[in-house]
Amino acid sequence: MRLIHTVERLRDALAGARATAFVPTMGNLHAGHLDLVHRARQAGEPVVASIFVNPLQFGAGEDYDRYPRTLEADCTLLESVGTDIVFAPDAAEIYPEPQTFLVQPPLTDELCGAFRPGHFAGVCTVVLKLFNVVQPRLAVFGKKDYQQLFLIKAMVRQLNLPIEIIEGETVRAADGLALSSRNTYLSESERAEAPRLHELLRRMTLRMAAGERDFAALEAWARNELEAHGWRVDYVSVRSQATLLPPQPGENRVVVLAAARLGATRLIDNLEVSWH
Ligand code: PAJ
Repeated sequence: MRLIHTVERLRDALAGARATAFVPTMGNLHAGHLDLVHRARQAGEPVVASIFVNPLQFGAGEDYDRYPRTLEADCTLLESVGTDIVFAPDAAEIYPEPQTFLVQPPLTDELCGAFRPGHFAGVCTVVLKLFNVVQPRLAVFGKKDYQQLFLIKAMVRQLNLPIEIIEGETVRAADGLALSSRNTYLSESERAEAPRLHELLRRMTLRMAAGERDFAALEAWARNELEAHGWRVDYVSVRSQATLLPPQPGENRVVVLAAARLGATRLIDNLEVSWH
């Protein structure tokens, strides 16, 4: 496995190579990230993983400075699952000059976008830049970040990028908590409380599968349950899988998305459900 820090060296390493499969990350890797690498490997092409904590997608007062940076351990993990190249640039390498931003109204301002202004512009901008540098045939993203995945698929479509997007299922701890680099911020008691988020989404999807259609009532119920246990809720929202907007009457493929804070830590999760 090769560890490369600059765009120029990466371009050299990839020159004349076969098409690649690409897994972008911000590092501090866990089993969810490694599952994406497994999926990339299944495509049979050399795998490039990137590790870059992207300043453009963090707002003022967010956790950019304290985001866990664990390059050595990440490289050991990536090597163990058969990664061929790790691209780990620093911020000056990716942003040597002011940015052209990629924005996709209206969805960039919905859900997480409403609480993290500029976040998805930062995500899509860096992903487009990384795509241009790596020029992969396919790239793998997790459903854990459902709105991010949706916006990246839209960007690929809208800008006619010749890249296949593969979706990875959310990898969870045994108690249901979605794996996340931010889980390391949780205290012991917060970690014990954290699975409630997934549990409430699961109960919402079961109630919908059993015929409940009053989405607003279900959202309010989950929000109240969380608040009663000390969470500060950004949103709990039932959305259309097709548009990520509020479901139209009769729509039968939805996703429940939520973001809520436990102490200083903001956790997100989602679950799809459909019925006939
Ligand atoms: P990061 O949070 O490091 O996540 C990298 C990839 O891993 C994303 O596609 C994310 O959806 C996926 N992932 C995270 N937790 C997961 C889990 N529990 N199960 C399955 N997949 C999981 O997402 C980002 O970085 C950044 O926004 C990035 C796309 C790299 C742009 O900076």
